Amino acid sequence: MQPLTGKTIILGVTGGIAAYKAAALTSKLTQMGAAVHVILTDHAQKFIQPLTFQALSHLPVHSDTFTEPDPELIAHIDLADRADLVVIAPATANLIGKMANGIADDMLTTTLLATKAPILIAPAMNVNMYNHPAVQANMQRLAAYGCRFIEPGEGLLACGWIGKGRLAEPEEIAEAVVRFVDEQSHQHTESRDLAGVRVLVTAGPTREKIDPVRYISNHSSGKMGYAIAEAARDRGAEVTLVSGPVALPRPSGITYIAVESVQQMYDAVMAHLPESDIVVKAAAVSDYRPAVTHTHKVKKGEDGLTLQLEKAPDILQAVGERKHPGQFVVGFAAETQDLARHATDKLRRKNADLIVGNNVLAEGAGMGTDTNLVTFFSADGGIFEQPLMSKRQVAEKLFDLVLEKRAARKRRVDG
Ligand code: PMT
Repeated sequence: MQPLTGKTIILGVTGGIAAYKAAALTSKLTQMGAAVHVILTDHAQKFIQPLTFQALSHLPVHSDTFTEPDPELIAHIDLADRADLVVIAPATANLIGKMANGIADDMLTTTLLATKAPILIAPAMNVNMYNHPAVQANMQRLAAYGCRFIEPGEGLLACGWIGKGRLAEPEEIAEAVVRFVDEQSHQHTESRDLAGVRVLVTAGPTREKIDPVRYISNHSSGKMGYAIAEAARDRGAEVTLVSGPVALPRPSGITYIAVESVQQMYDAVMAHLPESDIVVKAAAVSDYRPAVTHTHKVKKGEDGLTLQLEKAPDILQAVGERKHPGQFVVGFAAETQDLARHATDKLRRKNADLIVGNNVLAEGAGMGTDTNLVTFFSADGGIFEQPLMSKRQVAEKLFDLVLEKRAARKRRVDG
């Protein structure tokens, strides 16, 4: 199942040069399973044609409030009612101004006033327009109405100025949409089945210094571990997240510990282990580190350079050795072949209760992606293959299984 299957999204496109990026966004959201109903303003059509969006979304494109193809319906009200989410990308200063003031003078703005669906706004404009107090005040007013913003990027703008105002990339907007939909869907079915439980999560890569300017690391983005921490928090757990260096925003409502090296991650995990009920090791931790960290930058010589590496501490193994009977330990196995063999071997060697195996070469799985394709290997011999899901959905499935296994263990202990 795709992460947006069954979702109806209205994509409002307004008249800025970044309108061309909305085509790629339409394609991405459609590929993720959403039904994308595009509404173009008149000015957007100066930059891009409705046919582009129709071809990419396989759905009619709307632009005129008074074109009513179905006499049974009023198009903008029908769309407004059916939407699970509205995304406006790019959102011009003009559109933001109209929205903030309740103006409804075209198909997009009437739909926006009529909808009760959440609204995500991705602004794009000249840096001086973006910083203008009127635009800032309008955005603040919209935020107070409950709209969410996807921050524009900084850089060279089409107008020649350098600064903030460039539309976020289609990939970033699509990721924000998936995160938002996950959050919403969980809030709707929210249960507090982890209330009172203390969950320790590790996420992201580690960095092992070679010298002051170089290090050994990997491509982990932290998305898997952060999704796990957020899922645990939303289910009522008290969460500690030990994170390697990543580009994700810090989740609210949790204890956050930033680390870089394996040793720092090891120390943070060991410090919090005694009071943790569930430990989830989603971080991509270095197995090796330079035997010597040079104090000064290593200079280029005539010949090649040999780096001496030593084994880094295995944090999961240390946790497995120290865990007490009430604790439940989940490790990950990032493999490129023989997933089941390696995952079950790690389960046994590291004394974990569950291993989440992911073949990081599989399409849509592994590092940097918003989705993952995992199999759960349980210490009692259970193997649970999962379909491709968003990382948040993987996290939810993981906690469903952990709770089931903890309850079964408690029943065994209680006799
Ligand atoms: O961060 P993302 O971009 O979202 O990507 C997610 C992910 C691919 C990183 C994640 O799903 C994942 O697989 N994490 C584990 C990566 C890893 O280090 O796998 P491993 O098979 O090398 O290690 C096995 C287990 O031992 C892991 O739980 C790891 O955290 C732990 N380990 C490994 C080495 C070490 N020195 N200490 C450890 O604790």
